[in-house]
Amino acid sequence: MKLIIDTDPGIDDAMAIALAHAMPEIKLVGLTACFGNTFAAQSSRNARYLCDLLGFVVPVAEGAALPYGETEYTPSANVHGPEGLGDLETVPQIGQNVDETAAQFLVRMAAQHKGELVVCAVAPLTNIADALALDPAFATNIKELVIMGGAYKHNGNITPYAEANIFHDAKAADVVFATDMPIKMIGLDATMLTLLTPHDFHEVAAAAPKIGGFIEHISKFYLEFYRSVGVTNGCPMHDATAVLACTHPENFTFEAVGLRVILDGDEIGQTVADPSRPAVEVAVGVQGKWAVDLFKERVISLG
Ligand code: BDR
Ligand code: CA
Repeated sequence: MKLIIDTDPGIDDAMAIALAHAMPEIKLVGLTACFGNTFAAQSSRNARYLCDLLGFVVPVAEGAALPYGETEYTPSANVHGPEGLGDLETVPQIGQNVDETAAQFLVRMAAQHKGELVVCAVAPLTNIADALALDPAFATNIKELVIMGGAYKHNGNITPYAEANIFHDAKAADVVFATDMPIKMIGLDATMLTLLTPHDFHEVAAAAPKIGGFIEHISKFYLEFYRSVGVTNGCPMHDATAVLACTHPENFTFEAVGLRVILDGDEIGQTVADPSRPAVEVAVGVQGKWAVDLFKERVISLG
């Protein structure tokens, strides 16, 4: 499967990129970077650093710096760290972004790999909405859009109603859900079932000191954040779970639901059913132990 990950690395994004690289079913053809866990320039820099660390080369295209209609944005440094990768204080600038914007790159790759390209969006959906605005055929050229975001029956995580990726650009997310394109939404209903414990990270680090050790190191910050908000039994591998939904949808349970996003008030960013909208495959469950075990096995294979 040809895959682009639209990402804001991000600790769990780093895990998702490592997992995608380690999955034999996936051929990563590029990464597109968005604001979100970090500023957009930090996201693309971190994406390039992660490619280098993992030992592969793909184009990295930087995209949106701001949510639709906004003039400023503050990243969630308390969740992912000041540079997006836990307690790392500096991240090397390795290589360069491609000249195209994320939206231009997504549109071009979707046309080039018409009917074959899966886009796994694990950041705010601004780059995806921009790609649709640039070329409405993007919706039909891609094989599928798999989103990490939203909360259907589950509570939100950034507010009681909203999941962070959707909350950070509710307008862009609503544009995407209004589009008639094949979408799977892997939200908190599924990702909160895929918790990695300190012991899991320790096992991965012991068996794979370079990549597993790096992931264990950055995970400490993430585990501490989750502990501080009352999740004491591990941290969810949100973005990596979306990668697994690209390759193994049969291990997820889905409901077909039209969705819209609440655009104002206390509930801004909430994903709610709207039967007038095209149906999205919304994940309402996943085999959590299977996901965790496969993540560990694949990361260990990276050494
Ligand atoms: C999502 O928000 C970000 O903090 C994570 O990287 C993930 O994509 C979880 O709500
Ligand atoms: Ca993310």
